[in-house]
Amino acid sequence: MKILVVGSGGREHTIIWKLSKSPLVDKIYAAPGNAGISGMCKCIPIKIDELESLANFVEKHKIDLTVVGPEVPLTLGIVDIFESRGLKIFGPTKLAAEIEGSKALAKEFMKKYHIPTASFKIFDKYEEAVDFVSANNVPLAIKADGLTAGKGAMICLNSKESLKALESMMVTKVFGAAGTRVIIESILEGEEVSVMAFTDGKTIVPMISAQDHKRIFDGGLGPNTGGMGSYAPTKVVNDRMMKAIAVEILEPTIEGLRQEGRLFKGVLYAGLMITEIGPKVIEFNCRFGDPETQVVLPLLQNDLAEIFMSIIDEELDLEDISWKEESAVCVVMASEGYPEKPITGRKIFGLKDLRRENCHIFHAGTARQKDGQLVSSGGRVLGIVATHRELQKAIERAYIAVGKVSFEGMQFRKDIGHVVGGVKSSFF
Ligand code: AMP
Ligand code: GLY
Repeated sequence: MKILVVGSGGREHTIIWKLSKSPLVDKIYAAPGNAGISGMCKCIPIKIDELESLANFVEKHKIDLTVVGPEVPLTLGIVDIFESRGLKIFGPTKLAAEIEGSKALAKEFMKKYHIPTASFKIFDKYEEAVDFVSANNVPLAIKADGLTAGKGAMICLNSKESLKALESMMVTKVFGAAGTRVIIESILEGEEVSVMAFTDGKTIVPMISAQDHKRIFDGGLGPNTGGMGSYAPTKVVNDRMMKAIAVEILEPTIEGLRQEGRLFKGVLYAGLMITEIGPKVIEFNCRFGDPETQVVLPLLQNDLAEIFMSIIDEELDLEDISWKEESAVCVVMASEGYPEKPITGRKIFGLKDLRRENCHIFHAGTARQKDGQLVSSGGRVLGIVATHRELQKAIERAYIAVGKVSFEGMQFRKDIGHVVGGVKSSFF
């Protein structure tokens, strides 16, 4: 098979690494890829939202399967375009992907199908939102409706913080059009986990659970980011909890989406809070998580290309999916100024020294200069992943490797793999 992977992050690097192990796969292309990915396969300079150009490339090069990493092309309808041209593609259609593309739609959907989630109100008018938070001087989660690369939610401990959040979203428009509508939610308390599931719209196979460390600073402080690190599996999602997540959340979601004419094929990602009274949904994503994928796929025993094909053919029930009895840890190395204003173009040193370490280096924002020098080119730059039978040993291994890499102004958390509970303000 010839495969095209759309995307350029650590998630896509991991997917390509896993696909490259499949005996079914002869050749992989990435669009647009990054410097690390270009060491594994051919990168082509087509952007993720140039949907027709991607389809033309696939037709011209007779590519058998396209795999979509990020949410943007999915919510723009890449799957619908490819399918209308008779091209095989892995991911949900535009209608199904709206479960991530609009948080308001996702919340209304959860209410209709009795899927446990935080209580909420949706506001289109700034003045009405202001009245609501002024009258409710309690901790609230305030979110932009549209896509914001994981940065559009703010935890506000009181009215003053809520008013600041509303102003930045609805008046200053820090998230652009994504923030013209906001969702105000009650706060969920507990332990946060990510459960991704393979699904062909009928059969659902949950992957092992993972935990993402979303805030920029140790201890879960500072603003939200795309994700500063992750580990898998989590302790809190034991077999009983996974069963509850499947029965109370994943199954009614896939069934509800089918009833709404939004048949979901691909990876459904449930961001969950494990509360005292059970799991509740924080958000749904329509794709693999980043950096959850970096710790989940290294533990997958099966051939990923085979799983993708059986989902497309709606034969996921024939797959017997299993996981290694190990833990994996990913430490993300990010640029100075991330998440607000990352400074890029910094020379990266030390990766060669990692060849002897037992770890994976998944690139995100990296590029090569004309002279071959590796430099940073985005907010999140690298993900260093280590695995071991014991979580603690995997953490130690990952940090030994991180200690050998350097670039000016780099930021990374020192507490990846440690659970940090409690509700913390986004303002600091
Ligand atoms: P979201 O963009 O909806 O995934 O939210 C980003 C992050 O904000 C989540 O990963 C949580 O850590 C936090 N968060 C969002 N909604 C809530 C909530 N209702 N209660 C507590 N924390 C939340
Ligand atoms: N790790 C969060 C996300 O992929 O959205």
